[in-house]
Amino acid sequence: MSKAEIGLIGLGVMGSNLALNIAEKGYPVAVYNRTSTKTGQFFENAGTLRENIVPCSTLEELVAQIKPPRPIILMVQAGKAVDEQIAVLRDLLSEGDIIIDAGNANFRDTIRRFEELDDSGLTFIGMGVSGGEEGARHGPSIMVGGKEDAYRRVESVLTAIAARFEGEPCCAWLGEGGAGHFVKTIHNGIEYADMQMIAEIYGILRDGFGMSAPEIGAIFRRWNEGRLNSYLVEITAAVLDADDPISGKPVVDMILDRAGQKGTGRWAAIEAQMMGVPATAIESAVAARSLSAEKPLREAAASAYGSDDAPAATTPDARFIDDLELALFAGKIAAYAQGFAVMGEASSEFKWNLPMPTIARIWRAGCIIRSQFLGTLAQSFEADSAAENLLLIEDFVGMMREASPSLRKVVSHAALGGLPVPALSAALGYFEAIRQRRGTANLIQAQRDFFGAHGFERIDAAGEHHGPWNSGLGG
Ligand code: 6PG
Repeated sequence: MSKAEIGLIGLGVMGSNLALNIAEKGYPVAVYNRTSTKTGQFFENAGTLRENIVPCSTLEELVAQIKPPRPIILMVQAGKAVDEQIAVLRDLLSEGDIIIDAGNANFRDTIRRFEELDDSGLTFIGMGVSGGEEGARHGPSIMVGGKEDAYRRVESVLTAIAARFEGEPCCAWLGEGGAGHFVKTIHNGIEYADMQMIAEIYGILRDGFGMSAPEIGAIFRRWNEGRLNSYLVEITAAVLDADDPISGKPVVDMILDRAGQKGTGRWAAIEAQMMGVPATAIESAVAARSLSAEKPLREAAASAYGSDDAPAATTPDARFIDDLELALFAGKIAAYAQGFAVMGEASSEFKWNLPMPTIARIWRAGCIIRSQFLGTLAQSFEADSAAENLLLIEDFVGMMREASPSLRKVVSHAALGGLPVPALSAALGYFEAIRQRRGTANLIQAQRDFFGAHGFERIDAAGEHHGPWNSGLGG
């Protein structure tokens, strides 16, 4: 076989699948894993794709097997392992070779790695890959950050392995430095919000109406035919339908209600806060996962306040089911508006010039948040790319006008029934606040001035002013 086009380090599930995907698209790929037995097993199991795979037992061998300039994908655990791998490769690679970090890196680490490699002659790419195991194997969504000319050198292989939406590859160069990993982080923040809001609707049906998992699954399946059509709604229906082979019960009822998180959602919320951009639906979703993990605390609070009264099983009427669908849709719009607003601010702050319509386009297939909605979003952004916020784009104004009354109804229903809907409430709170011509921050300003002489602006005169506070309560 001629030399490999590309190398890949790290044959975990994602790395193995990505390597098979590359080989299947006809690009010879040299692979290496720290534990070489894994490399051997991977090669053994690769079937006919073996002809495009070069298993290597040392990094020296890996480097020697790739055609220069050598692109090498790192699919190792985010964090320290990436730095260690780069340090070793630095001594083995030559001018122009490209290290591609395809893990879920914090974009601030990516920016640092760019700086550290600055005088090395090597090129670095920080690449967000979404789509889980299936995506990696058959077509992920790929968000690339780094120098554009470095991307052009690997573009053909990346676009070949990416998912396609109506023939268009879901892969794009999004900007320099940490742009790709930043966009992936916001993708995951939105993913958290989408998942949390779905779970909240499930909670209303389960705990408010006493519906069974398959009954709720049937509702999500129907919704997947309409405006909520998406991968996450589709898998929710499938999950709710699955039986546990051990107990025979719905498997979802046998799963502990304690969610994991690896950090990307939290980074999205942190970055939003750092930039002063409200991303409350994302923040609530992250917080909800954290609270879910505090099982003993919740057990104690449930005993103190009660929460477990089983509802009488009643079927919600068709109108309320429609309200739930619209509420989820409205919540989704608000969450995406927040996510895109965070990207907008980061784009100016880091001078990335992020192409919003392209981001929406490459999320239409392959990634976890892929949905029909992203098609609409991509089209709307094309038509109005200067819009300050998604909620101001004409199509979305129409959709929110239709869906927001249902979001109000559903959040009120949940609140009166004592059911937690933190992400839907946050989405509603954002929507209500953003459309207030006159907010209530005048009072906040008065309070700040009262206790700290921070000053305020007047509605009828320019400059900084102070109030006539003479109560003697000043702190
Ligand atoms: C994706 C996923 C993927 C992964 C996350 C989930 O886009 O393919 O987001 O990157 O599932 O690591 O993260 P949590 O463990 O934080 O849910």
